[in-house]
Amino acid sequence: TLTQPEKAAVITIWTKVATQADAIGAESLERLFSSYPQTKTYFPHFDLSQGSTQLRGHGSKVMNAIGEAVKNIDDIRGALAKLSELHAYILRVDPVNFKLLSHCILCSVAARYPSDFTPEVHAAWDKFLSSVSSVLTEKYR
Ligand code: HEM
Repeated sequence: TLTQPEKAAVITIWTKVATQADAIGAESLERLFSSYPQTKTYFPHFDLSQGSTQLRGHGSKVMNAIGEAVKNIDDIRGALAKLSELHAYILRVDPVNFKLLSHCILCSVAARYPSDFTPEVHAAWDKFLSSVSSVLTEKYR
């Protein structure tokens, strides 16, 4: 669980990220698919070329879900319950992939807001994404 200062750091960086959430979502997916091409196997039905409508649409959905988690930072499990069932029971995404996507989101945020991305913010944002990933993968067992 996140400490009070960690929650505050997540909320602060999110207020910036939220203004460019769609672009950051799309960039995170581009980073995911180019650095870890095996992740593309979950999206055979998508046009994954850079800047495609589907990629941007999906990036926007992912960042919206992260925004919901930020808004409900004391109940991330409740906020993402439906998504958790979707990823576990329907999509069956291997949990290792959540670490990869989290890393790519972290990089996208760091690249866009270098001066805000202090070691404290880095650690808090990393821990937050890891909580989101835990919630999205906990239904597997
Ligand atoms: C769908 C969020 C991680 C694969 C979705 C949707 C959201 C979402 C909001 C749309 C759900 C809907 O349409 O009702 C997230 C978040 C993640 C995450 C917040 C972690 C931070 C992953 C990972 C993979 C993945 C790691 C695989 C590499 C998919 C696929 C779909 C999907 C294949 C369905 C796409 C479609 O057909 O439209 N995810 N996701 N997700 N996600 Fe995730």
